[in-house]
This record gives sequence, structure tokens and C-alpha cells, in this order.
Amino acid sequence: MGSKMEINHLHNKLETIKMEGILDGENADRKENLHRLFMYPAMMVPATQSAIIEAFSHELPNSILAIDPYMGSGTALLSCMEFGFDVYGQDINPFAVLLSQAKTTNYDIAQLNDSFEKVKQHIENDKSTNIEVSFNTIDKWFTKDAQIAFSRIRRAIMDEPNGNIRKFLWVLMSEAIRTGSNDRTSTFKLHQRDPEELERRHVDNIKNFLEYVQQGVSDFKYFQDKIHEKNCRYGNATIKWGNTQKGIDSEQKFGLLVSSPPYGDNHTTVTYGQTSYLPLQWIDPKDIDCPYDYLKTTQEIDRQSLGGSINRKALSGQRNRLIEKSKSFEDFYFSIPEEDRERYNKTISFIADFDESLDSITSVMDKDAFFIWTIGNRTVGGREIPNARILIDLMQYRGFELFFSADRQISNKTQPKKNNFSKTMDKEDILIFH
Ligand SMILES: C[S@@+](CC[C@H](N)C(=O)[O-])C[C@H]1O[C@@H](n2cnc3c(N)ncnc32)[C@H](O)[C@@H]1O
Repeated sequence: MGSKMEINHLHNKLETIKMEGILDGENADRKENLHRLFMYPAMMVPATQSAIIEAFSHELPNSILAIDPYMGSGTALLSCMEFGFDVYGQDINPFAVLLSQAKTTNYDIAQLNDSFEKVKQHIENDKSTNIEVSFNTIDKWFTKDAQIAFSRIRRAIMDEPNGNIRKFLWVLMSEAIRTGSNDRTSTFKLHQRDPEELERRHVDNIKNFLEYVQQGVSDFKYFQDKIHEKNCRYGNATIKWGNTQKGIDSEQKFGLLVSSPPYGDNHTTVTYGQTSYLPLQWIDPKDIDCPYDYLKTTQEIDRQSLGGSINRKALSGQRNRLIEKSKSFEDFYFSIPEEDRERYNKTISFIADFDESLDSITSVMDKDAFFIWTIGNRTVGGREIPNARILIDLMQYRGFELFFSADRQISNKTQPKKNNFSKTMDKEDILIFH
């Protein structure tokens, strides 16, 4: 694509989708695009992404490669695959890598069903009460019964010889851990449930796990049938662990980016790493791709992520570079009274890391590529950080123009019920650059 007429046509289509309210994703169905396999934090909404990508799919050749450099659980990647695109995704969180690897695999459904029967049998025959993993806080996060149940599940999964199928099973075990551990599901930070609640609570983790697996198999079949009915090819997926701030681990060039970056450092926005900590304790490390010790502490993954650590010596240089590149950042920064500025060091460090990642990203994009970003503002110390406007400036600085924008309510996005991030955010922007 490239002619003025084609680009206008695409723009009109996007405007129509916007007018029809489709971007709000109000009718989101969690069985779509394998969305409910695991409730990863702040997932994008399949209905919204798919509507946009469908519009692109009529205009772009499907030989174009799509990338999500912050892929999380792979929602955007799956929406691209739904329309026949090949995809590349990377994330710094090894658990996101596992989720996306499983979701983008074109499984043989009969093989998944066979594996389900074998795993079920294995668990039924397993009477051992040995606990398979050990870490300092295991008794805080898991009752003895849960430790026995997840040990039986783990032994059964490790008996599965096919590595791709094991990944599928680890994901469903993780969803059983999310709902069956002593951690509250209402926040993404690790928080133990109240003692009285724990006293009352009884969870059948094995039953849950087996139900999740069965539902997972049927969701894969549903997704495969959907691609088949559309007469689309099943795209290839390359999924890797990667720190996008440092680079994109691909030799190829991409024509389409579809992504939602973090909106601030994980610690004060969404703790992707902490949410992943308990499942990662139980998954065989041999099936996890990650070069650092992701289980060092509950904070390690969040520390490695954008804005996860402040380099005090670099701060003033980072701030000056952002001022040079973004008028919106400059206005924001100078609107803060001098005595309060210290409080925004984390924010500056995050935006500087994100800006660096834009260098990695734009270096692997075709020169006429499209970028579909979903981004929200957030509030720190009562001030709104204008993430969306800053992103527009940083993209323009690199020579890409805003082609289309829309905002949507985020009621359907998986946000924790309680944290200072979601309370102050109720809409996000979809910004498309070209
Ligand atoms: C909003 S989520 C992505 C949602 C995802 N695009 C989707 O389709 O659901 C942001 C992701 O950025 C990841 N992330 C944070 N810092 C990163 C970095 N330096 N390199 C790569 N990924 C990073 C987080 O682990 C998280 O999974």
C-alpha cells in the first residue's frame, strides 16, 4: 500500500469503526482469541484490536510482518494472526514469553485431547504427598493441600514429552495457581488473603486445573476454526524473551506494529512481574526462556522492566533529552513546582527508557510502516502524565506522523480493582502513526 487513495480509504474505514463505537470493545467475549487462558494484567481487548487490524488486513498484503515489542500475553499478536499475518513478539517477562508461545502455537487438537487424558490419568494415579518445589514463602502462599495438588499437576506435566504441549499445560496450571493460591486476585501485587477468609476457603485445585485445560482445548479449536472460516492462512509466530530498551532480536523488517507499552514503571502502575512470581515458582525452568534470575526476589522482573531502576547520575541528561524531543514533556515538567520535582524522578526515568526503546523499535520497521499504539495517561502525585501526547511528540521526532486517533473507555481491560493507577485512568488512546 502507499497510494494516497488507498491510505484515504483506510483512514475512512477506521473513522467508521470509531463512529460505530466498535473500538470501545463493549461486547468483548473472553473466549475470543484465547483471551481467558490466563488473566495477565492489563491485557488489550481482542475485539478492539481485531476491528482495527481487520481494516488494515484489506489494505496491506499479508506478506507484511507484524511486531509487538511489548507483547504481554499476546493479545495483539493473536489479533494479527486472526487475519493471516506472521508475527514477532518479545517481552522482558519470561512468563509473558511462555503465555505468548503457547497462545501462538498451531496445536493439533487431537494431540491436546490425548495429552489431557494422560495428564488426568497421571494425576489420578499419583498418591504421593511429596512437595516438588521449595521457596522461602511457600507456606504463606500455598496451603499444604494446594502444595500437594500442584506437585501432582507438575509431575504429570513433566511427564508430557512434547515441549509445546507442556507449555500449554503450564499456562493452565498457572491460571489454577492464580485462582487457588492464598494471593488475592483483586490486586496484581502479591497480597495474602485475610486469615478468616483463608480459614473458610476450600479450593479444589486439581478440578480447576482440569477444567481450565478442557476449556483451553476448546478455545484453541474455536480460534483455529475462526481462521479457517475466514479462509486465512495460519500465520507463523516467533516469540522471544527480549529487553526492548536494548534492542529487537530480529533480522527482519516489520510493516506493522501493534502494541500497548507499559504506562509507567511496573512498581507504581502494574506489577507484571509480581503477578508472574507464583506460577513461575512451579513451572520447570527448563521450559522458560530467560537469561536472568527471574526468581531472585518478587521484584526482580519489575526491576528489569522499563523504569524499573533509576540511574541518578543519568537523570538530568535524560530529562534534558526529553525536553528537547517533546514539547508536551517540557510543558508537563515545568508545570511541577520545583520543590515537587524530585517526586517525578521515576516518571522521567520511565519515559527516558521508553524513548530509548523507540530507537530499537523504529530501527526494525519498514520506512512506510504503520504503528498502532494503545496508551493511557496516568496520575502521579495528583498530576496527569500526558503519556499519549508525549508519544505523539516522540514519534514525530523520529519522522512518523499521527495518522489516526481515537479514545476508548477501559472498562473491559483487565485492571486490578484497587490500585492508584486504575482509579485515575478510565480511558486510553489508540494512536496510529505512519
Ligand atoms: C501493557 S503490557 C502489553 C500488553 C500486550 N501488548 C497485549 O497485547 O495484551 C506491557 C508489557 O510490557 C512488558 N515490558 C516492560 N518493560 C519491558 C522491556 N524493557 N522490554 C520488553 N518488554 C517490557 C511488560 O512485561 C508487559 O508484559
